[in-house]
Amino acid sequence: MTALAKQTTDQQPPVKPSGGALDKIKIIGGVELNGSIPISGAKNAALKIMCASLLTKDALHLENSPNSLRDIKSQIELLTHLGCQIRTHDNLMSLCAANLTSLTAPYDIVRKMRGSILVLGPLLARFGEAKVSLPGGCAIGTRPVDLHIKGLEEMGAQIKLEEGYIHASAPEGGLRGAKILFPKVSVGATENLMMAAALANGTTVLANAAREPEIVNLGECLISMGANIQGLGTDTITIEGVEALHGATHRVLPDRIETGTYIIAAGMTGGTLRLQNADLSSLHALVGILEEAGLHMEQDGDDIIVNRNGLRLKGVDIMTEPYPGFPTDLQAQFMAMLTLAEGAGMVTETIFENRFMHVPELNRMGADIAVQGNSAIVRGVQSLKGAEVMATDLRASVALVLAGLVAEGETTVNRIYHLERGYENIVDKLSACGAKIQKV
Ligand code: EPZ
Repeated sequence: MTALAKQTTDQQPPVKPSGGALDKIKIIGGVELNGSIPISGAKNAALKIMCASLLTKDALHLENSPNSLRDIKSQIELLTHLGCQIRTHDNLMSLCAANLTSLTAPYDIVRKMRGSILVLGPLLARFGEAKVSLPGGCAIGTRPVDLHIKGLEEMGAQIKLEEGYIHASAPEGGLRGAKILFPKVSVGATENLMMAAALANGTTVLANAAREPEIVNLGECLISMGANIQGLGTDTITIEGVEALHGATHRVLPDRIETGTYIIAAGMTGGTLRLQNADLSSLHALVGILEEAGLHMEQDGDDIIVNRNGLRLKGVDIMTEPYPGFPTDLQAQFMAMLTLAEGAGMVTETIFENRFMHVPELNRMGADIAVQGNSAIVRGVQSLKGAEVMATDLRASVALVLAGLVAEGETTVNRIYHLERGYENIVDKLSACGAKIQKV
């Protein structure tokens, strides 16, 4: 039993986001970063693992959960709405779905965060029914959920789309195992179907499945809850359905995207950063290309040490791809780095159709970036100039913060609530390493 499980704190009330729409970050650029940054648990693993708690009546205890993130708070709000009992303390979380009161994920909560679609598979598998609002498009692209729906239909579910909601019901006797071949690699669809299949009758094979470390972490949690899963981390995952799952204690893996973001910050500002509780092995594609650009990184026990030895980084080309390729969630940050590199680099985005919204903002700071279709040519300039900029999504926001750290003069990043969705204590973490950054 975890420390949290022994505590008697009350159920977590629905949480309101702390960052208002008008909050800003001000940065005075030009300071080297030196020091240590603790890396948080992975948002994109924790969000899904929280949904796995719906698969059992027992309690699920999480360690290393990034509880202060807005997206995690939105997921707590949704699960609490369904009747899940949730308690948090520091980076521990306990969830218990013994007595759910609703099987509906309402629009008002789902629209805040697409990760809420991940309640669909677990609810349907355990209760035979679920009603989940369609998440709709978002700033980085249309992001449909057709693969989630089609996969569940192949497992025998009846699905109707009415008034913006997905109404799903399982056949008599429950979902059936199926062989599902994804026409396109999808992180969310792989996770939703893996959770649904854990309680289905018979064997499910997910072919052309996503292989992200967050999916492996979710799968390991399901296995410790009693699920029978083979092939995690490969493109073919086989799940033998079981009668029931039980409680477990599970540790959320370190956030590789947060890690990559601070590695890039060290590359841009110079200095030496020690990233604590971080894992380079989940960042092969980034590490290889950054070494080519001239950055030095090494794993030192549970930490990563990053340093560029005073040299100017060189322009290199990247293309985003499903794992183990270069992650789309680091594309904006990498582009910010290329703006000051020696020579040019080409950035090609293949996952989302509209993920270059940071480009005009970086150009306003003096960058030289030209977009053509899904590629951008970034020609390195000698310096960026501080400016007032506006962010439209989480990773674009942090790319602008990185640019602000190296720009001459003052940069103001507006709408920082995007940042608070995915970066725990970013202002404190950067300030502790010397950055002149504050929330205003
Ligand atoms: C996850 O989104 C992450 N979100 C994203 O991180 C990340 O960018 C993305 O995976 C890719 O790595 C969470 O884990 C909460 P997908 P997800 O299904 O699961 C298309 C961040 O910044 N598609 O792998 O929604 C889709 O439109 C966020 O933390 C369909 O066509 O991504 C996209 O083009 C942003 N039909 C591609 O597949 C579907 O049914 C990959 O999407 C599902 C997806």
